[in-house]
Amino acid sequence: MKTSLPNENNSIVDFISLKKLQECIVSDKKSHCLWLNTLSFLEYVGCRKIVKSQRAENIRLETLLHIQEESRHALFFKKLIPKIDPDIDLSFGLNDFLGGSTGERYLQDIDQFVYTKFFNSDPNSSFLVYNWVTWFIEYRACILYKSLEEATESLPLKPYSLKSLLNEEEHHMAESIQLLKKLDPKFDKHMELGLKHEADFFVPFIQEVQNDLNKSKFIKNTKDSNTNTKRISI
Ligand SMILES: [Fe+2]
Ligand SMILES: [Fe+2]
Repeated sequence: MKTSLPNENNSIVDFISLKKLQECIVSDKKSHCLWLNTLSFLEYVGCRKIVKSQRAENIRLETLLHIQEESRHALFFKKLIPKIDPDIDLSFGLNDFLGGSTGERYLQDIDQFVYTKFFNSDPNSSFLVYNWVTWFIEYRACILYKSLEEATESLPLKPYSLKSLLNEEEHHMAESIQLLKKLDPKFDKHMELGLKHEADFFVPFIQEVQNDLNKSKFIKNTKDSNTNTKRISI
């Protein structure tokens, strides 16, 4: 049986590795569009999760604003796709993503982890779960989007800026942390536990994105020539 240390693959999701991966993604029009579509879908799932997870009595003005902004982020990424390739038509079907279903899996896994490990599956914990899940997902989104922002600088013409979107994500993080510090008596313990495990859930997604890129390079290269393909390994 293969035994592995829990964090041995986590270096593939650090800032530098994610920037390198995304430089590779944005260097190819089709991959770039698939990636923007994947990010749009994940923003949409994030928005849908907030709506579905919160009881009406927990919906505050800030929650409504959060729902609206996550929906706008989904729209933002979707609207970038025709700027990269006006002829491409992508749906929210699994074949139009990089990483297939593993991106959505990441969001569900974080949610499940917080619900079970932090709050022992207590149904009354939904507001705290929502705020913790928000914080960990935004924490990851900020690393991913900041590294994407830098990756697009490798293109001859920088096609878009993620600056205002990043400002909003950082604002969501700040709001959640403020509430959690006030409402969660186990704040320090939960923060430590979440930070220790968050990357473990993100790694399978990035591994699957790498696999998809390797497959598409392989298909392209065997079509164009018989030379060996160069595997993406970060
Ligand atoms: Fe977002
Ligand atoms: Fe957000």
